[in-house]
Formats: sequence, C-alpha cells, structure tokens
Amino acid sequence: MGVSGLRTDAWSGKDVLSILDFSRSDLDLLFETTDQFSRGPEYVPKSLAERIVATAFFEPSTRTRLSFTTAVLKLGGKVIDLSPDFSSVLKGESLPDTVRMLESYSDMIVMRHPSEGAALLASEVSHVPIINGGDGSQHHPTQAMLDLYTITKLKGGVDGLRYAVVGDIRYSRTAASFLYGLAKYRPGPVYLVSPEGLRARGEVKATLESLGLKTEERGDLEPVLDKVDVIYMNRIQKERFPDPNEYEKVKGSYRITKNMLANAKDAIVMHPLPRINELAYDVDGLPNAAYMKQAGFGVPVRMALLHLVMGGAQP
Ligand code: CP
Repeated sequence: MGVSGLRTDAWSGKDVLSILDFSRSDLDLLFETTDQFSRGPEYVPKSLAERIVATAFFEPSTRTRLSFTTAVLKLGGKVIDLSPDFSSVLKGESLPDTVRMLESYSDMIVMRHPSEGAALLASEVSHVPIINGGDGSQHHPTQAMLDLYTITKLKGGVDGLRYAVVGDIRYSRTAASFLYGLAKYRPGPVYLVSPEGLRARGEVKATLESLGLKTEERGDLEPVLDKVDVIYMNRIQKERFPDPNEYEKVKGSYRITKNMLANAKDAIVMHPLPRINELAYDVDGLPNAAYMKQAGFGVPVRMALLHLVMGGAQP
C-alpha cells in the first residue's frame, strides 16, 4: 500500500496486457508516481538496477520502443533488444519459444506484435511480466495510460470533458484502448468520428456499453470541433486493411488544419503518432497542439509503470 493509500500490489509482478485490467485507482497510483518522477532526477530511484528488460518489437515503433528503453535506462536498468529481422524468428522460431528464451535472459518483456492476442499468449508461457506495446488492432495499454495522463496534466482531469475520437476507429488499437481508458472516468459526450467502414468494431462497442461509456457516431468532423475539449486524432491504419483498395477509398478522410481550429478555442489536439496527412503541420505552432507533449509523457509514465511492475514502492 502506498503513502496515499493506493495499492501498489495491483502492479507488482503483473502483466500489462490491456488497460481494462486496471482500475481508476491503479491509474491514480501510476500518475502520482509519474508526477513524482517528473520532479527531477533526484526523485528517480534506481529501482531497475541489476534488472534487464527485453524489448521484442515484431512491428515498427519509434515512440513505444524508445520511450520504454529510455525509461529503463533512467531507472538504472539495462535493455536487450530482440530485433526480429536479425533473430531466429526468421528461421521460423515460434512466438512461445522466443518468449521462453527472452524470459530466461530478462526480468520483463516489452513486446509488440501484429497478431491480436500475441501478448496474452506470451503471458501464458512467460514467468516474467509481459508489457503489451501493441497487439494488432486490439490493445495498446501504455499508450492509453499516457494519453489519460496527458489530459490530466493539460486539462486538469479527465472527468466531465467532451471528446472526439477521429479517424480509423475500426483498426486503431490506440483508439480502442483510449476509449477503454475513458470508460474508467465520467466523461461528457464522446463522439466517434469516422467513415462508415471504419466505425468501432462490435466487440469494442459491446465492451464500452458494458462499462457504461456512451458514445455517439458521426461522419463529419467540422460540426463537432467546437463541441469538444479533446480531439483525439488517429492515423488510418493502412497496414491493417485486408484489401488495399478499401484503404484507397478512405485515406485522407479527415485532416485537421490550423484554420479549422479557429472555432475550437481551448480544445487540445492529441494524436498517438505517427501522423500521415490527418494532422497538418501548421497546427504544430498552436496552443491546441498537445501531441508532442503527449509523446514526451511516454517516458515518465513508462518509468512509473516499470517501477511499479518491478515491485517498486510508491515514492
Ligand atoms: N504511439 C505509438 O505507438 O507510436 P510508435 O508506433 O512509434 O511506437
């Protein structure tokens, strides 16, 4: 139990597969720990000294892989990286066998994989914690955690705000995980803005409904821009379309520009990145632009997560 009464044992030794597995109070502890670590280097414990974290990214990543690596190094730990293109994965080694190797070399595995359920499968064979850095279109829990932290920092909290989640809601694991995270709070209206063919999948809608999160589907972006406090943009996930022709039909469906935000007043624009063409570069200089700060929060949030999963005390 931490000093403010939050339970650290909710994190210690646990797999982080989905944000659905964590309560609001677990997130409160994560964010308190993040705040503490953000005060300066003297507040950062070397809680991963003598620890080795393995990264295994079977899909490209800039932010998740490098922010986890940075976080481990800041906590005094060491990182080994699988690099699938230079490993025996190319000889046909299975995911379970690969995970068994990594668990014998490390204290924790951070992984990303194109197959939904890959992190769950890894957790079933691994004796060390598995951190899901993204599995297909399904979950990206640590992205959702840093997204919620960003809103807490920039808007003072998550409750009561109005949200637009925009773009590819069907295939985007960041959109799904963000919505699962929102469901732990009491947001105002949540608009899901997407082309007809990229609406939230049935199982995502069913989960949100079971959690009591009400959403409204929309096709047009402009009419909701002055109705929301948070605009959460998403890239159309080209790599997940079974038929490239279907991607061609919806690519470029939405694009936020500086001019469009004239009526958006204090709304923040978020994006898990990378951006393609859905977010114009002329937005970068506006006070609304939150996406670079959001990416930056990836390091302290993941430091806090690594610290807690490795059994660190609440600072
Ligand atoms: N947001 C995110 O997951 O970025 P990367 O794909 O670069 O890790």
